[in-house]
Formats: sequence, structure tokens, C-alpha cells
Amino acid sequence: MQTELNIVILAAGKGTRMVSDLPKVLHPLAGKPLLFHVVDTARKLNPSRLLVVYGHGGDALPNAFAQRGPTSPHGSKEIIWVQQEQQLGTGHALQQTLPDLNENGFTLVLFGDVPLISEETLRALLNIKPGEVGLLTVTLPDPAGYGRIVRDAQGRVKAIVEHKDASDAERAILEINTGIMALPTRELKQWLATLRNDNAQGEYYLTDVVALAVKDGKTVSTCHPCRQSEVLGVNGAAQLAQLERLYQHEIAASLMEQGVRLTDPARIDVRGELTCGRDVAIDANCIFEGRVDLGDNVTVGANCILRDVSVATGTRIAPFSLIEQAQIGADGRIGPFARIRPGTVLAAEVHIGNFVELKNSQVDCGSKINHLSYVGDTTVGKNVNIGAGTITCNYDGVNKHRTVIEDDAFVGSDTQLVAPVTVGRGATIGAGSTITKDAPADELTLSRSAQVTVKGWKQRARNIKRRRG
Ligand code: UD1
Ligand code: MG
Repeated sequence: MQTELNIVILAAGKGTRMVSDLPKVLHPLAGKPLLFHVVDTARKLNPSRLLVVYGHGGDALPNAFAQRGPTSPHGSKEIIWVQQEQQLGTGHALQQTLPDLNENGFTLVLFGDVPLISEETLRALLNIKPGEVGLLTVTLPDPAGYGRIVRDAQGRVKAIVEHKDASDAERAILEINTGIMALPTRELKQWLATLRNDNAQGEYYLTDVVALAVKDGKTVSTCHPCRQSEVLGVNGAAQLAQLERLYQHEIAASLMEQGVRLTDPARIDVRGELTCGRDVAIDANCIFEGRVDLGDNVTVGANCILRDVSVATGTRIAPFSLIEQAQIGADGRIGPFARIRPGTVLAAEVHIGNFVELKNSQVDCGSKINHLSYVGDTTVGKNVNIGAGTITCNYDGVNKHRTVIEDDAFVGSDTQLVAPVTVGRGATIGAGSTITKDAPADELTLSRSAQVTVKGWKQRARNIKRRRG
């Protein structure tokens, strides 16, 4: 491969068939805009220049990228944004980039709405000699709509003819132009300068440079993508959904190759990066977003959502749990119906049961919060038991305050801990208490009023009537 590589991603088109206010290439596939997929793949090739031609949707594309931040794992090469004010064709789009192209080596053209193109395929395409043209082509049973690859009697590429301009004989050709091509930059500049738009669509076709290259005696070589799905484009919502399933299917297949047991590979969604240890089992309908790391022997029950989470060895997550930006320790039991919010760190052997919400809390080894609790901005020590219905009142309407519950404490059911407050080591809180002051270690603290029985008190008549009726 040449050392100097320009990559130009064409993304100025309108995307009318998406029927959406969002520019087409910003629609997400596996949680990431289509264009980001292409940019991330492009960066893996380490280009000297990376350009995106945008137009429709104004600054939405550069803005989306600015908001993305430095999240791309493949280097932070800046994108050169090139505006194409009027979309007069793919050749016209390339013409806009000319001042920014590095003359030595190749220019690789990608489409912003063809998101699954792989690094592997592009490296194969770029495996051409200086001055040559490389075309990525596929053979389709129904090639209608695509540009056809026209060859001479010796099988050498002569030209690309767009469907609308093709003769019947040319339309019978099944080999089509995917649109992805590698061109020698110096020559490309000359070819682009001579493009004309006297064709069926009145556009400047990039594909016309192929015939110009042949006229200049250049070799045009073709190669096929590793997988046909790599060159599928997104035009409408149905194709977007189809590509999403294809992509998810590939992720599922690769997880299963690594030994991950998926109850149903058609019912998993990975929108980011999921890494799994040995003997991980994932039940149906789970969604993984951002970076999720599951240790050895972790099981994830049906219908869980995990976003930016690490789960250590041996932990079982029961169905319908939602966990975000948290670290879960080893051999824990989470859920069903647990909600674990950002900033939560659980040590080993922690049990978090149903309808328990944790936020920005640290829970140390062996502690249990098993039923119907809200624990926020709290530090929980080792071997603490928090009874059903316990609530940390962490917010006074203006500020958030912390609760500290030290090792071996036992918090009775239906307790409110009004922060800032500390429950001392080994302390017991009587059920139903509202704790506003620190509870000392090893003592029983409770705030309940004594139970009384009012003798002879009668329920009001209408209550009795309603209940009996
Ligand atoms: C193009 C190819 C065709 C190929 C097909 C594969 C040309 C002339 N034709 O046709 O041979 O079979 O792709 O899908 O290249 N774009 C711009 N500015 C423009 C026009 C297009 O940025 O002025 C961008 C679009 O946003 C899109 C890409 O270029 O990402 C392709 O444009 P599109 O209109 O879809 O080209 P096709 O007619 O499909
Ligand atoms: Mg198209």
C-alpha cells in the first residue's frame, strides 16, 4: 500500500427515502451513526488525509462529530470537512476536495451510507500498483439501478456505465460498481477536471474517470468485498433495520465462536464493545451499550440492559435489570428488576434484589440490599444488611448529601436515612425509623413512637358499609 493515502467519504446526499429530519448518515447503526462507522474504519487504514464531503443538513455532520469527543480508538486524525453546496454528482463531490488532496499515492472513495465496509476489504482493494485504479465490485442477480462494470473481450475493465445510461446489452451485465474505489491522486485531479454532465441524470459522474484511466493506459483492477453485506447501502428505514440485524448477527456469531452461550443469537443487541470471559451465558433480549466487560462464569438473565459496565467473575444478573456506568464485583447476585445507576461500585458477593435502585454508591463485600430500596450517594461497608423499603434521603431540594453505613450494620425495613448521616459499625436500626442523626456503633437506634391501642374505638359506619358492600 502507498504511504500517502487520502480517504474521501461522500456524505452530501439528501437521503430523501429516510423520511427524517436527521441527515441519513447520522442515523444510528448499533448505537453509532452510519458515518462514524465509516470514519472509524477509514482511520484504521491510517490515511494521511481524511475528508468528508457534506452538504445536505448543513453543519449537522461536523457538529455531530465535534460532540463525539475523543472517543474513537483509532487515532485522532482530524477530519477535513468539505462542503458541497449543490449535489451535482459524485464526480462533482470529489472535485470539491481537490485542493485538500495530497498528490502522492491514492485517494480512496467511501460512501457515508455504506457502513459495514471492512478494513480487510479496503486493504485488499488498496493492494494495487502505483498509478493503477482499483474498483470494488460485486455480482448481483438483480443489478438494476447500479453502475455496470463493462469489460473488453480479454476481460479488462473498459468503463463503468450508469444504469440510466446503459444499453440493453450493458444492463444485462451482473457485475456492478459498489461505488468504493481507489484512484491515483495525481491522475485523478486531471480526470476530474475533464468530467462532463451530458448524461441521463445531468450529473458529474465519478464513475466516468474509469474510462479516462483506460484511455490513459492505466490498469483497472477489481476486487470483491470479503462479505457481500459490507457494500450494502442504507436508503430507508427498512434497509437500516436489515443492516442492523446483519451486523448484530455477525457480533453474535463472533461471541459464540469465543464460547459465549447465547440463548438466541437473533435476540441480542450490542451497541458498542462487549467482551466476555469463559463460560458466559446471556439469555434472550439483552442489550449491551458502550463498553461492557463480563468476567468468567457471568450469567445475564433475559431482558437486561447493561451500559458501560464491568461485571466480575461468577456474578449472576437476573432478568430485567438495568445497569449503567457501574462496576459489579465477583460472585454477586443482581436483580431481578434491579436498577443500578452511574457511579455505583459493588465489591464481591454483594446481593442487590428486586426493585432496588442504587446511585453513586459503593457497597462493600457481602452486603445485601434485597428488596424495594433506594440507596443513593451512600457508602455501605462489609456485611451490611439493608432491610426492605429502606430509603436514603440524599437530596434536600438543593444539595445532595452522603450516607455512610459502616460494616456489620443492620438497617431494619422501611427506614429513612436522612443524609448527611452515619450508621456506625455493628449498629442496628429498628424497622420503620426516620434517622436524622448519626446512629452509634453496636447500639440499637430507632425513632418509632410507641405502639398504642385505643380501646373501644369504632370505625366510621360508612367505611364498614363500603367494605361489606
Ligand atoms: C453510485 C455510482 C454507481 C454505483 C452506486 C452504488 C456514480 C455516478 N454512480 O450511484 O455506479 O453502482 O453508487 O451504490 O458514482 N453524493 C455526494 N454528492 C453528490 C452525489 C452523491 O456526496 O453530489 C454521495 C451520496 O451522499 C452517497 C454517494 O455519494 O453517499 C452515492 O451517491 P448516490 O446518489 O447514492 O449514487 P448512485 O446514483 O446510487
Ligand atoms: Mg446510491
